[in-house]
Amino acid sequence: MHPMRLASLFDAPMDYADTVLDLIGDTPLVRLRRVVADLGPEEAQPLLLAKLEMLNPGGSVKDRIGVRMIEAAERSGALKPGGTIVEPTSGNTGVGLAIAANLRGYRCIFVMADKQAEEKQALLRAYGAQVVVCPTDVPPESPDSYYKTAERLAHETPGAWMPGQYWNPENPRTHELTTGPEIWRQTGGNVTHLVAGAGTGGTLSGTARFLRSKRPDLVVVGGDTEGSVFSGDTPHPYLTEGVGEDFFPETIDTSLVDRWVRVPDREAFAAARSLARLEGILAGESSGTALVAAREAVRSLVETGDGRGKVVVVILPDTGRNYLSKLFNDDWLRDHGLADERASGAAAAAAAAAAAEAGAEVDKAVSALGARARRRARAGAEPVKREARA
Ligand SMILES: Cc1ncc(COP(=O)(O)O)c(C=O)c1O
Repeated sequence: MHPMRLASLFDAPMDYADTVLDLIGDTPLVRLRRVVADLGPEEAQPLLLAKLEMLNPGGSVKDRIGVRMIEAAERSGALKPGGTIVEPTSGNTGVGLAIAANLRGYRCIFVMADKQAEEKQALLRAYGAQVVVCPTDVPPESPDSYYKTAERLAHETPGAWMPGQYWNPENPRTHELTTGPEIWRQTGGNVTHLVAGAGTGGTLSGTARFLRSKRPDLVVVGGDTEGSVFSGDTPHPYLTEGVGEDFFPETIDTSLVDRWVRVPDREAFAAARSLARLEGILAGESSGTALVAAREAVRSLVETGDGRGKVVVVILPDTGRNYLSKLFNDDWLRDHGLADERASGAAAAAAAAAAAEAGAEVDKAVSALGARARRRARAGAEPVKREARA
């Protein structure tokens, strides 16, 4: 990817990166077939390509912004040698920041709410970050809230700097300078549709801005969570992590989005699980949200007879290893009323793939399972809480 050739010291050239930071980005595209097998004959479908952001060194798209926000702060003087990075975060952005901080000699203090999974704290600590846990059940303006605690720590800690992914322009700019150009190059300029979810909106806005500048007729489809304001819903709690918000961050440019697809938790979780089972791609539930939106894009292209020759790129933000205790834990899914994969939008794809391979008997078995699952789902519980930001 970023080969260094030190032919002067050694006889044979060698390919390796200087640091792990040089391995961020340039993630591959892979064709998705089986998760859309039910949407029409292959000849009538667009080419659906997934950008595998979980293959970044820290396992998510957020590695990209971690290092660039730090570099910009170094240039502006906001972050000085030996300084401390303080950010209210619980997940991927913390990892991205910690990787870059470790290589550049900064300390990290991440402030998170106590509702976050233990494994997320453990992950940040594994990178050497200090993790401060605050109570969840306090209003944002309370001095004990995790936002206020982060602000106070940033104020009190000498040499502290807060990246602020929800307002830092380096966030969308990173995607305008890297993710967008990569997709353009990898598709040979043939991309016609971009599909991505939004949390800060940095990925969607930056990538779309670059691709639109190359191709004004690019169609941009946003995947949003039920209970998030981006697609116009009234904010309410949901379980999908990383996408959706109850406010409009400065980093999102909704004018670039042609269409939002609003995705319930149940469908996002089922779609993410179908990625692992049908495509062998282990991804988080926000990838499920994006996949459901991508399926909608494919479906409408097939329905209007416009699929052939179109290229749909969907961004899959992070690895499913972050969610082994939730998304990939059957007990957890059952406890949260999400255990019913077959009753979701991904059901038809799973059934079609199974039927194609194993014949009508399997198809019948899948339908029976689906009916049972639907009955279970009707009796199932509602989601119980709002989950973490990235
Ligand atoms: C798992 C996951 N998916 C999707 C996103 C959305 O990315 P962005 O903040 O660039 O909109 C994030 C980050 O917020 C995330 O952590």
